[in-house]
Amino acid sequence: MQDYKEFLAETLIDEESLKKRTAELGAQISADYPDGNLLLICILRGGVPFLVDLSRKITSPHAMDFMAVSSYGIGKRESSGTVRVSLDLQTDIHDKDVLLVEDIIDSGHTIASVLELLNIRQPRSLKVCTLLDKAERREAVVPVHYCGFIIPNKFVFGYGLDIDEYYRNLPFVGVVDLDKYIPPA
Ligand code: IMP
Ligand code: MG
Repeated sequence: MQDYKEFLAETLIDEESLKKRTAELGAQISADYPDGNLLLICILRGGVPFLVDLSRKITSPHAMDFMAVSSYGIGKRESSGTVRVSLDLQTDIHDKDVLLVEDIIDSGHTIASVLELLNIRQPRSLKVCTLLDKAERREAVVPVHYCGFIIPNKFVFGYGLDIDEYYRNLPFVGVVDLDKYIPPA
């Protein structure tokens, strides 16, 4: 795979800013959910680094669970509007205070479909925490209760966000120069 430095157009959010904002969100969530009924649900795979760091900044007791959905295929850069659940939760969310943790909300189709699906299971509450929000791209109506950063309409990578499944490990969020990026064969 290509070295990311070859196609990094700019660092949008550096490591320090991610840490600072995650700590702020963690403090806010701790205050809002004091009673230990909180379940963090992470949408695989992009939300993992954020979930892990956020969870360590939440001081109230909480559980976590994972689900996987897909709206993007390799090589595609646009959400299709159709979402497939490929891995369901292991937890019964009935009467739980559920907080959905996402890496990014783009068109909003992914999260809108997941919210619809989870609501049927009658959680006590259901809220959304996203690290990044490409607000100007929104097509579906999505309530965003906690947001790390509102970002411009640019394709980003790093800190959970992938380009063709790679570069999720990078500790910052960068903008891709798609003219310089070479997709895997
Ligand atoms: P939505 O359904 O359009 O809101 O798409 C949400 C999903 O698209 C996210 O969970 C990401 O997996 C992916 N996505 C959207 N924008 C980007 C981006 O800039 N970089 C990497 N993945 C993205
Ligand atoms: Mg994703």
